[in-house]
Amino acid sequence: MPLVSMRQLLDEAAKGGYGVGAFNVNNMEQIQAIMEAARETKAPVIIQASRGARAYSQDKYLYHLMLAAAELYPEIPLVMHLDHGNSFETCKSAIDLGFTSVMMDGSLLPDGKTPATFDQNVEVTRAVVEIAHAKGVTVEGEIGVLGGIEDGHGAGGTGLEHVTDPDQAVEFVAKTGVDALAIAIGTSHGAYKFSSKPDGSVLKMDILLAIHKRLPNVHLVMHGSSSVPKDLQDVINQYGGKLKPTWGVPVEEIQLGIRNGVRKINVDTDNRLAITGAIRKVFAEKPEEFDPRSYLKPAREAMKKLVALRMTQFGQAGHGSDYQAIPLAEMAAQYASETVAV
Ligand code: 13P
Repeated sequence: MPLVSMRQLLDEAAKGGYGVGAFNVNNMEQIQAIMEAARETKAPVIIQASRGARAYSQDKYLYHLMLAAAELYPEIPLVMHLDHGNSFETCKSAIDLGFTSVMMDGSLLPDGKTPATFDQNVEVTRAVVEIAHAKGVTVEGEIGVLGGIEDGHGAGGTGLEHVTDPDQAVEFVAKTGVDALAIAIGTSHGAYKFSSKPDGSVLKMDILLAIHKRLPNVHLVMHGSSSVPKDLQDVINQYGGKLKPTWGVPVEEIQLGIRNGVRKINVDTDNRLAITGAIRKVFAEKPEEFDPRSYLKPAREAMKKLVALRMTQFGQAGHGSDYQAIPLAEMAAQYASETVAV
């Protein structure tokens, strides 16, 4: 299937009442792991690359690897998404390259660290929506500020310093026209999210419910949604790693979110843990090995297993062949007609 817009994929997810994992990638093995998991579970897919990933790989490599994935897995709807664009220029370069969806994270200034004002966020996000929708490309915005730091991007902290204000969320969507909205409800990027198992009082699920009530047709996005499973931590530590005890977002909380408007769930850390554990195991058990395939194969397999599990838990499994891709030009025409109607 040709690449699809994230708007189409999330509209379908809303119709079907399920969520879609958005998995971060930096290299070929991660893309292969996601595509194999999608084939096995018959799931639609969002693959996302952050600015850090684009810099690490030179984004042309990632772009062509994702095109190869679309060609090799023609039955799977595939979104190529920019994670945490820090500026208009970053988003524009992704759109020019051929990404079918971008996140403009205007919650932070272009330095990727300093919280922006509401007006600054609206201004830059609106500008990205204009150029993106003209090409049929989807835009995710963010209101409120997530905690933690990922690939050098983030305000740090616990994620509770700038939780999303539902009134601001409503105003933000009206003023920007974003297709999807990332909200801050106490999640943060990275492995060290919580120092004990979080419950409803730590994750601000009440805020999520309030936002969904006010914006029932907006696709909500949960960032920082790795569950940081204990068994993956244990493998790393068993084979020489030194992770401190930590807790992530319980899958049941994500499923509660999915029942209340969450359509996109961002997962990166869990896959990093799975890959690292598998590689450490080979290094520890077979120190004579030096062929990269001897450890990258099990690493890829470990990530595939985890992604397939999340695809099932989020409900996207089985929905890969529900629809045909709408060409981006047609999406652009739809956006143009909505603008004229307003
Ligand atoms: P995790 O660090 O919880 O995997 O979050 C990833 C993310 O939100 C990417 O934008």
